[in-house]
Amino acid sequence: MEIKVVIGSITEIRADAIIIGFFEGTEHLDGDTAALDKALGGAISGLISQGEIKGKLNEITVIHSLGKLVAGRVVVTGLGKPAELSRDKICGAVAETCRLLRQKGAASLATVAQGAGINDIVLEASAQAVTEGALLGLYNFRRHMTKEADYGEIKELTLVAAGQDERQRLESGCRRGRVLAEATNLARDMANEPANYMTPGIMAERARELAADCGLEYRVLGRAEMQELGMGALLGVAQGSREPPQLIVLHYRGRDSAEVDLALVGKGITFDSGGISIKPSEKMGEMKGDMSGGAAVLAAMSAISQFKPKINVIAVVPATENLPDGSALKPGDVVTAMGGKTIEIVSTDAEGRLILADALGYAIKLGAKGIVDVATLTGACRIALGDLCSGAFGNRQELLDRVLKAAAEAGELMWQLPMYEQYKEQNKSDVADIKNSGGRYGGAITAAQFLAEFVGDTPWVHLDIAGTFLSDKERGCLVKGATGVPVRTLVNLVLSLAEGVKPSP
Ligand code: BES
Ligand code: MN
Ligand code: ZN
Repeated sequence: MEIKVVIGSITEIRADAIIIGFFEGTEHLDGDTAALDKALGGAISGLISQGEIKGKLNEITVIHSLGKLVAGRVVVTGLGKPAELSRDKICGAVAETCRLLRQKGAASLATVAQGAGINDIVLEASAQAVTEGALLGLYNFRRHMTKEADYGEIKELTLVAAGQDERQRLESGCRRGRVLAEATNLARDMANEPANYMTPGIMAERARELAADCGLEYRVLGRAEMQELGMGALLGVAQGSREPPQLIVLHYRGRDSAEVDLALVGKGITFDSGGISIKPSEKMGEMKGDMSGGAAVLAAMSAISQFKPKINVIAVVPATENLPDGSALKPGDVVTAMGGKTIEIVSTDAEGRLILADALGYAIKLGAKGIVDVATLTGACRIALGDLCSGAFGNRQELLDRVLKAAAEAGELMWQLPMYEQYKEQNKSDVADIKNSGGRYGGAITAAQFLAEFVGDTPWVHLDIAGTFLSDKERGCLVKGATGVPVRTLVNLVLSLAEGVKPSP
């Protein structure tokens, strides 16, 4: 979709539909809304007095202009109460409106900077929210459908600016929104792909292409290198599958130094059957998305390479299937992770923490000074926080606070869960240094405590996205399927950290 900013008047714009935001409790129409109402012969004010337009959040009213405007329709989108407006609400309302208009056959849309000037939402932020809403809300995954969709495509979105200065500010917001939304959609594309189209080898190939497109360094470790490095936990999970495991590494150099300021580590289980501790078959297909953390960190790297912050970032993705063949790990087995720690396998279905143990070890070996990992790690996190909010854990409050702030800016809900050391008790093993499951109670926390054992003193944050990686319905800028969470958070975090990274001498 082309998104452009033009200087002009909304009443004169040529488009299939004009989208105009409307707040609950508005008593007098002014500005663009008043101008459109006048052109439509009072249709908007008429619908308001009849009670059809109330301005409730995501209420959508389509008014046909019937030749009174060059644009075919004026669509009034409710933005709720102005005091409650946020960038995420703008994003969601635009997404819902765009989907409805696509269904109605519109191909070109025009709007203005929705909500700008309210609750500290500046012009750039408004344009960014509108752009993200359109690109994220209209996302679909039809690669494996042989029939065409019963709806067309929205090809163009025009933002109308009042003057030159406003145009520049809107363009800058649109650019930022486009990079963030396209990266999120890239993560969605990878996570939505069926597991037979997204094997560890294919995932590595996607990362290689991404690196070539974005000017990133790319490296991949296979079984032999993993053996040399002593990655017994990752190799253990992989041994039940015929697909060879891949440890994918991308390197972004934003400043002239060999230091690695941050590592983004993402779980890349391309299919999680549970292994010998096999999962129930109902909804097992959802586990094609068990590489969503890996997809998110790879996609974040593509956005980072476009913003060019002065910071060095690597992405590390351990990719493998978790399947139960004759050579698979068995409950009761003991494996040795990269640093030499031994792990008792209580459940082969707690495989995410095993592959992450070695990936975290490898990130530290590469010199990472900070780590954020992202994983569809525990059903327990989904139970604790539901499907709206990701869980956040860590060993440094300062880094955690930065991640939470980046998430809030992105409109991606995230909530910190505790890391009380008393929980470590549950991970104690009778036969090895640690066991890979601490039982059902507090499962998200004991999983995080397990990971903490493999990062030592390195500042680290763990994001459990088991609840949020999938959406079961359309909801604002989310559509059914992979959500692409937390790509926007990761990119915001890296941009914010780059401001504080010392330039090398
Ligand atoms: N990939 C799953 C977690 C998951 C469940 C993600 C549902 C998304 C939706 C993970 O590998 C897993 O199976 N975890 C187990 C851990 C348990 C055996 C300690 C779980 O949560 O049941
Ligand atoms: Mn599992
Ligand atoms: Zn898993």
